[in-house]
Amino acid sequence: AGDPWEECFEAAVQLALRAGQIVRKALSEEKRVSTKTSAADLVTETDQVVEDLILSELHQRFPSHRFIAEEAVAAGAKCVLTASPTWIVDPIDGTCNFVHRFPTVAVSIGFAVDQELEFGVIHDCTEERLYTGRRGRGAFCNGQRLHVSTETELSRALVLTEIGPRRDPATLKLFLSNMERLLRARAHGVRVIGSSTLALCHLASGAADAYYQFGLHCWDLAAATVIIREAGGVVMDTSGGPLDLMSCRVVAAGTREVAMLVAQALQTINYGRDDER
Ligand code: IPD
Repeated sequence: AGDPWEECFEAAVQLALRAGQIVRKALSEEKRVSTKTSAADLVTETDQVVEDLILSELHQRFPSHRFIAEEAVAAGAKCVLTASPTWIVDPIDGTCNFVHRFPTVAVSIGFAVDQELEFGVIHDCTEERLYTGRRGRGAFCNGQRLHVSTETELSRALVLTEIGPRRDPATLKLFLSNMERLLRARAHGVRVIGSSTLALCHLASGAADAYYQFGLHCWDLAAATVIIREAGGVVMDTSGGPLDLMSCRVVAAGTREVAMLVAQALQTINYGRDDER
């Protein structure tokens, strides 16, 4: 059957590749770094350059579509998902890595229609891996089909997470105690690689068994959610209920069993909502 969003998907792939080249080149150059919501929430000129490139190109080609993008939201744009075709863009995921030249940096482009995620494209800029997922059509990395892990026990799971932007004592205490709870449940390990989207791509690839985080945003989640689901995995709310893209929290896993075990182990860190800022 024909895919009505084929042209959009192809545009996303081309832009993610082009944007990734810019990011890769800029990685080794001097950067001007500013902070956003906290001292650990960073932005560089390249974030803005890449976002402008992606949004201007897409806006020109698809003038009736809507956009949610990290730096536009930081500048005050509203973050609401309507029924309209909507692009959800993170120009550089892993900005802190980018600033430090730690080579785990991605461009993420997701696309939703009627509030349903249709496709996601994530470009791992330094490894030159292109992850794609399209609803009903599978998930791929550089053309190879992706499959999640089939692990059902938390005690045999490799778990990924990210710290989130807040560093106040109460948040740090909850963050560390969540990690401790998973280690006490005898997870094989907990990893923090500095990019939510690439951690989620590792999960989609079966290289890890679970992911959880409080304090991420819809642009960290949109593209990766399609890729994980199409690789056979589950993406849900930290309560164990259905995913809410705007809720700034997530649990994902290869199996529902592991996702539920992680969700049950976690204490909530309340980061508010993307659509209520
Ligand atoms: C952030 C990174 C970070 C995660 C944050 C994300 P950004 O994305 O993925 O590891 O902890 O939740 O927002 O700001 O680099 O695009």
